[in-house]
Amino acid sequence: MCYNAIVGSVEVVLRKETQDYVYNAYQKTLEFLNRKTRYLLRPEFGEYSSMYTFTTENIDGYLRKIDVSGKDILTVTASGDHLINMALRGAKSIDNFDVNRNTYFMAELKIAALEALGYEEFLTFFTDSEKRRRDYAGIVAVQRKVDENPHFFEYKIYLKIRPFLKEEVALYWDLLYEEYEFSGLKMEEKGLFLGGDKEGAINSNSYLKNEQEYAKARSAIQQVERRYYFSDILQIHQLPATYDVIFLSNIYDYVTDDWHGVMTEEAFHDYVANGLKPILNPDAQVAAAYQYHYRVKNAAYKPSLKNLFRGRYTIDRRESLEKFGYKKVLIPSVVQEYRKENGKDCFYVYEGGKTR
Ligand SMILES: C[S@@+](CC[C@H](N)C(=O)[O-])C[C@H]1O[C@@H](n2cnc3c(N)ncnc32)[C@H](O)[C@@H]1O
Repeated sequence: MCYNAIVGSVEVVLRKETQDYVYNAYQKTLEFLNRKTRYLLRPEFGEYSSMYTFTTENIDGYLRKIDVSGKDILTVTASGDHLINMALRGAKSIDNFDVNRNTYFMAELKIAALEALGYEEFLTFFTDSEKRRRDYAGIVAVQRKVDENPHFFEYKIYLKIRPFLKEEVALYWDLLYEEYEFSGLKMEEKGLFLGGDKEGAINSNSYLKNEQEYAKARSAIQQVERRYYFSDILQIHQLPATYDVIFLSNIYDYVTDDWHGVMTEEAFHDYVANGLKPILNPDAQVAAAYQYHYRVKNAAYKPSLKNLFRGRYTIDRRESLEKFGYKKVLIPSVVQEYRKENGKDCFYVYEGGKTR
């Protein structure tokens, strides 16, 4: 009796802590969405910032070039797409890191939706339009949505996903739906999402290629161990595990950016080559940077500059990580302009940590 009472009170404490955590995340997210000043040229990444609904990388492309099956993986959390695609490709365990705590709620929402919804309804819920067209607003290149989706994050569909959510994840989304009058479109208007279109989502993700792959991903995700860490990229060497493959997304672009960056390319390379050693298994590979054009660093910004200088701007073909001996792997581009020309994205793989 006494034992039960103690166990009971411990549960109550844990539940309260979890609730407080979620309320805090919700409040901080609202503060972020209501902030007065914002960057125009790039997304802001903070502890509670907007969530990507889909990857912006050709994950399908690079998982054809880098084998994850049976391996222990560390990857960025972002939209949860890295995790789902790597589960589909047979990864043994997948740890996820992100500086944005909200990404946990997005990734878990996606996994629950994979269980709750069929293929078409999943796409209906998560995609904000059929496709994108790039246009210019003054000098800035903006992506315009073509055939906007009125069912984006529709509450009626959310209610089908809800029974499959962990309690704390449901609480987070319930609070946001209540705040925004149970309207996914209002959440979107406020900037809660860095949204993705249907065409891009299908091009980038193996699990969205067709219904069969979607069904395979649904069972694969149940087989794989997954954990989430809230960490800056420059702190992941402290994680309590070791990995066969690490995917660092395109965070390199941001941390070495000429305007907002926090480090040089040399320092980034030093972190990959030396800093990450404590968490690398023998023969580990680090997919250190995704690049949206195989020749050009920060290629996603370049169309704006080209527009600004009316064609006189010549693309800066500066080498990036290849000068440090990284393997450069080319894959079909996901950027509309480059896709049209059969262009290529690339990612840089570091294998210098080999110890066998
Ligand atoms: C760089 S963004 C871009 C989208 C990405 N290419 C994809 O396909 O999902 C991906 C994620 O990186 C996270 N991020 C950005 N800077 C970071 C940093 N310094 N440390 C850890 N995570 C970071 C963001 O919060 C975001 O969720």
